[in-house]
Amino acid sequence: MGLLEQEIKSRNLPELFRNKDNEAVQNESGWRSRREEIKNVLCREFCGCFPRIAHRIAGKQVLEDDSAYGGKAVVKTINLGIVSDYSYVSFPYRLMLPKNAERPPVFLYLAFSPEIADGLGEEILDAGYGVANVYYQDITADYYDEHQSGLGRFCTRNNYDSWGKLAMWAWGSSRILDDILEREEIDEKRVAVLGHSRLGKTALIAGAFDERFSLTAANESGAGGAALFRGKTGEQIENLYGKGSRLWFDGNFFNYRKDLTRMPFDQHFLLSLTAPRHLYIASADRDDWADPKSEFLTCAECSKVWNLYGEEGLVSPDRLPETGACYHEGRIGYHLRRGTHYLSRDDWRQIIAYRNRHGV
Ligand code: GCU
Repeated sequence: MGLLEQEIKSRNLPELFRNKDNEAVQNESGWRSRREEIKNVLCREFCGCFPRIAHRIAGKQVLEDDSAYGGKAVVKTINLGIVSDYSYVSFPYRLMLPKNAERPPVFLYLAFSPEIADGLGEEILDAGYGVANVYYQDITADYYDEHQSGLGRFCTRNNYDSWGKLAMWAWGSSRILDDILEREEIDEKRVAVLGHSRLGKTALIAGAFDERFSLTAANESGAGGAALFRGKTGEQIENLYGKGSRLWFDGNFFNYRKDLTRMPFDQHFLLSLTAPRHLYIASADRDDWADPKSEFLTCAECSKVWNLYGEEGLVSPDRLPETGACYHEGRIGYHLRRGTHYLSRDDWRQIIAYRNRHGV
């Protein structure tokens, strides 16, 4: 047994391949039903449940800039309305489409600002990709609002399993996806969801629960994202509890902050839900708060789900890549960048290279 495999073992993770009746999951159909159980566990114990009320989407284009980036792209501002019998919520997103690519693949980018891809729009455009950019706080605020701003109003609130902010941002991303899939100008088979940090956690929830995303990409998502909680260094559940991030999760999740051994899941449950589609996890070697090693180990552990489908997940699960290197061959892509906590141009380039290589 390799060193990392031993380390995973010593972390005593809940088993992916044992269902609630303690039966072994051995094939794809067993996994499909196990997958439903895992979704239920995560909704109850981690991110909270999603709205079940009937709703419809009304996307209205409010602005079009046909000469963006020196005429290389068109940028549309779309006001997305989500309508139910008793509530109406709307938020804008911006869709940038390269003019020289017919039906381009798209990044649904969960952004910390309304500016497209944090100012990297032109490079992404030149690589032949479109971007659907949403400023996350337009979906719902990232502060204490009694779950009343934006999408918060779509669910009644309780202290246990009602959705936290991450789930709201993720569900909002899926509603944007509803809208862009209606548009003939994009490649509907190649829409990736991407986010950094708290929005990396969000991207993982979006990609886990919505199988229409061809690629789920999370940059330095750390605690509550790609990193295993068991054996993790840096940020712990207790740290997430002590500040605004308490609102990101559901109430039940914080029951485990004093005793992880009782927690019926760990983050390999979340990442496994993206199988057998493509998953990309990016870490930075000095991002100690996020803990790159624990992010990598999650990929290594859930890689087994891809194997069940006869696919290669992570290519070298027993060896962390050197700083600066990547594993791009399998359906789980991974890189370890030099430096600290941010989403860099280099991270974007690597993820684009991965998308090009796999056609996702
Ligand atoms: C804080 C938080 C992290 C989070 C990060 C971010 O550092 O502790 O969990 O990922 O904010 O979203 O920027």
